[in-house]
Amino acid sequence: MAFTIAVDGPAASGKGTISKRLAQELGFAHLDTGLIYRAVGKRVLTGQEPLAAAQTLQAEHLEDDSLRTPEVALAASKVAVLSEVRAALTDFQRAFSRRDGGAVLDGRDIGTVICPEAEVKLFVTASAEARAERRFKELAGKGIETTFEEVFADIRARDERDMGRAEAPLKPAPDAVHIDTTDMSIEDAFAAAMARVRARQESA
Ligand code: CDP
Repeated sequence: MAFTIAVDGPAASGKGTISKRLAQELGFAHLDTGLIYRAVGKRVLTGQEPLAAAQTLQAEHLEDDSLRTPEVALAASKVAVLSEVRAALTDFQRAFSRRDGGAVLDGRDIGTVICPEAEVKLFVTASAEARAERRFKELAGKGIETTFEEVFADIRARDERDMGRAEAPLKPAPDAVHIDTTDMSIEDAFAAAMARVRARQESA
């Protein structure tokens, strides 16, 4: 049976961690759609045309540690404004969302464009300062040299591009449950998400 959980939100809001935990707990498949845009962005950085890079994307392109760098994140947010690139990536994400056994997808437009029919929609946010602090620690932990100021500026620039674009802008679906993780532990954020899923499962 299909059951889709759509998790949207800005960079480093905690949506990836919540999504992974939900998928683990429920035995659902998980798709980090940001990784798809990052993989296309990376291919463009190496000289490909954005549309060709999206149309010829293979699963193996997602298995690349360098996709997590700030440069690739920036390149991802630039290709993500192109409607033909988004269109080329839609069918794969939709098919994934309705697979048997349930699916969790996290991104920017899952509840609004990819799966408006999702059984559960979450919109995960946190203050820009808290998100930059988390991302700075994450990058430092990976040995990527940067400063808090740089990470903060990158996140702000990406927020603006993601929210301001004409095509599939980052915004909550009208029926999304908001989770602000600024002052929440991962445990509490996960519990809030799980409570929503359980309520929906019981009402089905
Ligand atoms: O991990 P983080 O939240 O920093 O970023 P991400 O989820 O990996 O996404 C990287 C970029 O891809 C975002 O800044 C968006 O521009 C784009 N993206 C998108 O447009 N639509 C999605 N469903 C997912 C990501």
